[in-house]
Amino acid sequence: MICPWWLCYSFDNPLRRIFHDPERLLDPYVRPGMTVVDIGCGMGYFTIGLAKLAGPGGKVIAVDLQQQMLDALGRRARRAGMADRIILHRCRKESLGVEAPADFVLAFWMAHEVPDAPHFFREIFTLLKTGSRLLLVEPKVHVTRSSLERTLAVCRETGFQVLEEPAVALSRAFLMGKG
Ligand SMILES: C[S@@+](CC[C@H](N)C(=O)[O-])C[C@H]1O[C@@H](n2cnc3c(N)ncnc32)[C@H](O)[C@@H]1O
Repeated sequence: MICPWWLCYSFDNPLRRIFHDPERLLDPYVRPGMTVVDIGCGMGYFTIGLAKLAGPGGKVIAVDLQQQMLDALGRRARRAGMADRIILHRCRKESLGVEAPADFVLAFWMAHEVPDAPHFFREIFTLLKTGSRLLLVEPKVHVTRSSLERTLAVCRETGFQVLEEPAVALSRAFLMGKG
């Protein structure tokens, strides 16, 4: 099931910074000048932090199915003075439609909503540069261990290697490498 846009207000709020500080969490993976893709960006809880880390020479492609999410993120990005380095991209359920070679991809609390996991991870694998990373983070609450194991099996079949399992509050997280 796709997370309805209005539900985003329940977890995309300042209190969340206490346990998911975007810049602290993503600092190990993002360097100035990088091209980063935030898939299932929602209202951009992580997108603004990614844009700060990527710096003025970098960019973030923020991808979501729902126009309401992208509209809210657009307003936030302007308020934060980050609009020039964030590209808003509305995708379709069947395809991300992003081709830019990426240095880093984030998929936070969204992969369980994707109907065709093999296709989804193949698209990410193709858009990542060799040697680059995907950080996959799934919520502990409503993603069972067996469903997560199936997702990880798909990732391995696609060609990803699990490099690390970083500690992320309320979540299970996997840093995946391509090549
Ligand atoms: C639970 S929200 C998480 C938002 C954000 N990543 C965060 O952690 O605050 C999941 C988001 O993924 C988006 N989504 C679901 N399926 C998607 C797909 N196939 N492609 C892109 N976005 C998708 C939803 O529209 C929603 O905005």
